[in-house]
Amino acid sequence: MNTAPLQGIKVVDFTEVQSGPSCTQMLAWLGADVIKIERPGVGDATRKELQFNPDLPSYYYLQLNSDKKSLTLDAKTPDGKAILTKLIKEADIFVENLHPGAMDKLGFSWEVVHQLNPRCIYGTIKGFPLSSKYANLKAYEPIAQVTAAAASTTGPYTGPDNIPTQSGAALGDSNTGMHLLIGLLAALCQREKTGEGVYVYQSMHNACLNLCRIKTRDQLTLDKIGYLTQFPQYPNGKFGDCVPRSGNIEGGGVLGWTYKCKPSGPMDSEEDANNYVYVILQRGAKDFELACQAMGFEDWLTNPDFNTADARDRHKQEIYARIGQWCADKTKYEVTEILGKYGVPVGPVISTKELMTDETLYDGNTLVKINQGGEIGEFVTVGCPFTMSNYQPTYGPAPELGGNTEEVLTALGYTQDEINAFAANGTTKPLATPAAPASK
Ligand SMILES: CC(C)(COP(=O)(O)OP(=O)(O)OC[C@H]1O[C@@H](n2cnc3c(N)ncnc32)[C@H](O)[C@@H]1OP(=O)(O)O)[C@@H](O)C(=O)NCCC(=O)NCCS
Repeated sequence: MNTAPLQGIKVVDFTEVQSGPSCTQMLAWLGADVIKIERPGVGDATRKELQFNPDLPSYYYLQLNSDKKSLTLDAKTPDGKAILTKLIKEADIFVENLHPGAMDKLGFSWEVVHQLNPRCIYGTIKGFPLSSKYANLKAYEPIAQVTAAAASTTGPYTGPDNIPTQSGAALGDSNTGMHLLIGLLAALCQREKTGEGVYVYQSMHNACLNLCRIKTRDQLTLDKIGYLTQFPQYPNGKFGDCVPRSGNIEGGGVLGWTYKCKPSGPMDSEEDANNYVYVILQRGAKDFELACQAMGFEDWLTNPDFNTADARDRHKQEIYARIGQWCADKTKYEVTEILGKYGVPVGPVISTKELMTDETLYDGNTLVKINQGGEIGEFVTVGCPFTMSNYQPTYGPAPELGGNTEEVLTALGYTQDEINAFAANGTTKPLATPAAPASK
């Protein structure tokens, strides 16, 4: 039995860059038949962004479009619109992330698609919620992060680098794709009951803000009492009227910080920026006792400056200094091993290089190797982030630009003559550029 959860689900994928494609790639990995619409001769912009070889598609494109089909289609031409209409009539899900207003201009708004196929679910990604004063702006990752209070609360809170800082994680892009995925899967379940598709609108702003929920918690607390005990500014520093940047604090009630360690190997030299470990002291008395035993800090157990969680919040600078000293003559792995044995939450700071060379992560899900074939060969990407007890995606290559055009058009019932005509009139292939006039 094929246990692919979305087997038989047809997806028309009118997305590009990262946010939309990350969503439709998950749909493909869950077994849906995903047909990616790409502009003839151009394709998704990421095909030619950050390439390692100007003649080959970039890892950017490859990592976000595996297991999809590519149909090149100019949706601005009458034939293009007719083909898209046929596709939509057969589709379970239509997804798009063009700039605000673009889909309406092309003639494929939610209202139109819903009329063409009432069962079709329509997923949209835009930068901002419809109610926002910025609803008409185009958006990329940093725009989502700066407008959703992510950047204002990230980075050093003192010194010359005290500026709004982006997270390295794609809170606005792939995170938005995953949020839309939740909406689409919910809509599929709902359709089981109602028989009707719905409109799922996902803004990058909302997806990003959803991950900044605890910052709104902090703002509420700050408004009430004027300070936040988890920040280094507490108890002696100053708080303003908004949540400060958080440096490396843990962010919740537990006390965490990043500590410099001694170098541990070729990827972890004295100069290596990632030669650090993160250590957390939990609030519970038993957990704190274990941490003290692990580091030989038993004197803290009877010292009123440290033996309660509230006292530790008031003396965090001394705690940072002492744990820092304790870590300095150990590697990040030694610290992790020692503290891990005592149940202290701890983790080494891992670089991308180190992560991607960790063979234990190639378990068929965390990191996966996809064979793209040709000059590209094998490349590494992040697999489906959850596991299912009865299903494991098989990870196939990303499509060539327009690589499935004939196959998709044939399946829609077009004859070979019609398919050839679409290629000749610019619907599925770029029109030949007229030859330059011969010089006299
Ligand atoms: C990402 C973004 C900023 C790019 O904006 P852009 O450079 O204007 O590119 P778009 O793809 O949206 O639109 C370009 C044009 O190509 C057209 N186009 C795209 N695919 C087409 C196709 N297959 N056939 C015909 N036309 C097509 C669009 O209709 C649009 O035409 P218009 O400008 O006449 O309206 C914008 O799409 C956006 O804000 N999207 C929503 C948020 C988002 O997902 N951001 C990306 C995060 S990774």
